[in-house]
Amino acid sequence: MSSDSVAERVFDAVAASAPEVRASLPGRRAYLDDENPSGESMLAADAHADDLLADRLTGVDGVGAYASEEREAVVEADESGGVSVACDPLDGSSNLKSNNPMGTIVGVYDGDLPASGRDLLGAAYVLYGPVTTMVCARDGAARDYLVADGEREDLGDLSLPEEPTVYGFGGRVPDWPDAFASYVEELEEDELKLRYGGAMVADVSQVLTYGGVFGYPALESAPEGKLRLQFEANPVGYLVEAAGGRSSDGEGSVLDREAASLHERTPVHVGNAALVDRLEAALA
Ligand code: AHG
Ligand code: MN
Ligand code: MN
Repeated sequence: MSSDSVAERVFDAVAASAPEVRASLPGRRAYLDDENPSGESMLAADAHADDLLADRLTGVDGVGAYASEEREAVVEADESGGVSVACDPLDGSSNLKSNNPMGTIVGVYDGDLPASGRDLLGAAYVLYGPVTTMVCARDGAARDYLVADGEREDLGDLSLPEEPTVYGFGGRVPDWPDAFASYVEELEEDELKLRYGGAMVADVSQVLTYGGVFGYPALESAPEGKLRLQFEANPVGYLVEAAGGRSSDGEGSVLDREAASLHERTPVHVGNAALVDRLEAALA
């Protein structure tokens, strides 16, 4: 059994679950009296998507473990071992209240979690927008899909447009380090347009579609930023690199960042290589 086919089976299982995740949202917009391991309030929709994906993904042949940002510990799927799937079941779930887009992110790691981004065999995200789309990457290439009736319909190769037009960064502007704020001012002078919606998947989809840069940077109050290395930064960094772009934690590819703990956070920036190179130069 090749690892490549495990990644494809994981992508198929995520696509098959997507209509159920979407259908589960309307009745689960309330907050639970519970926090996830990152200390964030959980919506009923976060918990439901996590339970659903844990069930489906641990059932995929060749998957040995499942972990998500909504649960403390890794779930062992198969005593005979296999790949580890790290999942952000609902990315941008605070958008549920205002009815804005959300996503699901998965990374398929060849190894026990926490693992290095260099151990990724593949990564994918689903975007629950006006239509359900999916981007999947493995072997250094990214593909775009429409998800219809739980099946992936191939829309072709995905690569970043050469001319960037949009940017979006998280965190409050007064909380940005000065060097980062100066870099963003330069982007405005270069006539890039601000697009920020509060769901990484949706914001990265704009970057992949129109070219540009997205990030959740190191903040003065939170030097590690907000996004989680295993569940968000590595998989999305892998996808954007496969689409011909770059990822960075501020110094180098997020994929080279050492993984010390399952729920650790990291600053992350992804997009056109020239813009990410400039960011690193600005922060150096
Ligand atoms: P999640 O819903 O999985 O916790 O992810 C939310 C993340 C990410 O999607 C987005 O880029 C960022 O948080 C938005 O944060 P702000 O609401 O602070 O802008
Ligand atoms: Mn998220
Ligand atoms: Mn989430």
